[in-house]
Amino acid sequence: MNDKQARLDQIAAEIGKSNVCPDLAKTAKHLVPGEGNPDADIMFVGEAPGKKEDETGRPFVGAAGRFLDELLLSIGLRREDVFITSILKYRPPNNRDPKPHEKDAFWPYLLAQIEVIQPKLIVALGRHGANCFFPDLKIGEEHGRPREWDGYTFLPLYHPAAALYNGGMRQTLIDDFKVITTLSRN
Ligand code: URA
Repeated sequence: MNDKQARLDQIAAEIGKSNVCPDLAKTAKHLVPGEGNPDADIMFVGEAPGKKEDETGRPFVGAAGRFLDELLLSIGLRREDVFITSILKYRPPNNRDPKPHEKDAFWPYLLAQIEVIQPKLIVALGRHGANCFFPDLKIGEEHGRPREWDGYTFLPLYHPAAALYNGGMRQTLIDDFKVITTLSRN
């Protein structure tokens, strides 16, 4: 097995062992640590697993995930080419918003995943993911505009779920995804 994959597996195991967010762990069916290419140049960080993700243990496999697959295809990528995770690794009950202490609890594990993967580009999907990196970032104003975070190129985008039923936002996300192509060429 790829050494990076072994280290990612270790991080996932550590979340279980360290009993991170015991309340969420109690109501969740599965841990959803993230998946994809451990050597990926691009890493996507969403918000939290939903129902389908909780049932399968895999990130972005529901309706938002299908749209994410479409967005990836629109720039010539497949999900096997990238790494996909979320800030929370357990589903919050009834898909409620992540709480600040929950995001704080999972943050070190996200950092550890970034350190293993060493992506060229971190793409935050939605404000909860984005605000972990930049607490004051306003996604409505900053989406599609790259900046630097800790030596990495960072791109905040709208969450695909928010754009599912909003034609304007959907098109914005399609347009913003093109920025990924430009950034990952550099
Ligand atoms: N939304 C997210 O932010 N993450 C998932 O894994 C699924 C939906």
